[in-house]
Amino acid sequence: MKINWYPGHMVTAQNEIKASLKLIDVVVEIVDSRIPYSSQNKVAAKLTEGKKKIVVLNKIDLADLAKVTECEKRFKEEGINTVRVDASSGKGIKELLLAISKIGASVYAEKNSKLPNPIVRALIIGIPNVGKSTIINKLSNKTSAKVGNKPGVTVRKQWIRVGSNIELLDTPGILWPNLDDQDAGLKLALTGNIKQEILDIEELCAEGLKEILKSEKYTKMLVDRYKLDEEEIANVEQVSEIMDIIGKKRGCLLRGGLINYEKVSTIFLDDFKNGRIGKISLE
Ligand code: G4P
Repeated sequence: MKINWYPGHMVTAQNEIKASLKLIDVVVEIVDSRIPYSSQNKVAAKLTEGKKKIVVLNKIDLADLAKVTECEKRFKEEGINTVRVDASSGKGIKELLLAISKIGASVYAEKNSKLPNPIVRALIIGIPNVGKSTIINKLSNKTSAKVGNKPGVTVRKQWIRVGSNIELLDTPGILWPNLDDQDAGLKLALTGNIKQEILDIEELCAEGLKEILKSEKYTKMLVDRYKLDEEEIANVEQVSEIMDIIGKKRGCLLRGGLINYEKVSTIFLDDFKNGRIGKISLE
């Protein structure tokens, strides 16, 4: 499946992030906890080299916690701090603030700073749709006040004081998704991090079903969601047969009783990205 999407303006974004980074102590990279690797930007590591980083595993309410635990271990082995967040409800925001403070303090300690109460400056980065704005809002709703511009930062950018010792750039650094990697593109589309419509949705639906069938636990969720016959599903030879079954169950039919695959796909993909089939992680 070919994804054609060339985000030229992202180069400008990259330069803007580079400019902001000079003033930043801690970089907070937001990822989708259902696809923590595919939703990480490839050049982010290079771009933020030398900066302390926290990876926020956001949308934790939609993720399979068993898989999240595994990926936390992997991040830890690489020396990367992670925080679980559900930005919609605000769960984990307090922990994120604590993590920023703590890591910020270690930055000042390394600099041998004698400042009694140093201000930790943080920048939120991530690909579109992972929840950057929601997190900035949640962080700033706590106790926020806008403070003045700092030299070297684009005028429209503002610093938001969060808590007693953190300043956050109110404009997140937007990075581009990894669309040259087809597997990552597929996962990004299934989780709704890139528009599903830019792909062939019937093909995407089939790929989503294949992902589900790889796991017994997820197959059971699919069976429950669409009230399917477990045995019948176990015996299908092609995922299109499952689309047929769901189509009949949901009355997605064209004239003459043919299955309306487009409708089946829309239903499935909408359910998948919103977690209605269940807490499914793809990585
Ligand atoms: P961005 O700034 O990184 O682009 O992301 P933004 O905060 O705008 O969030 C994108 C969508 O993800 C929003 O949904 C938002 O409500 C949702 N979202 C953010 N954090 C969480 C979370 O922790 N859990 C869940 N379940 N959803 C979260 P939206 O406005 O409805 O957009 P869309 O779904 O129509 O794209």
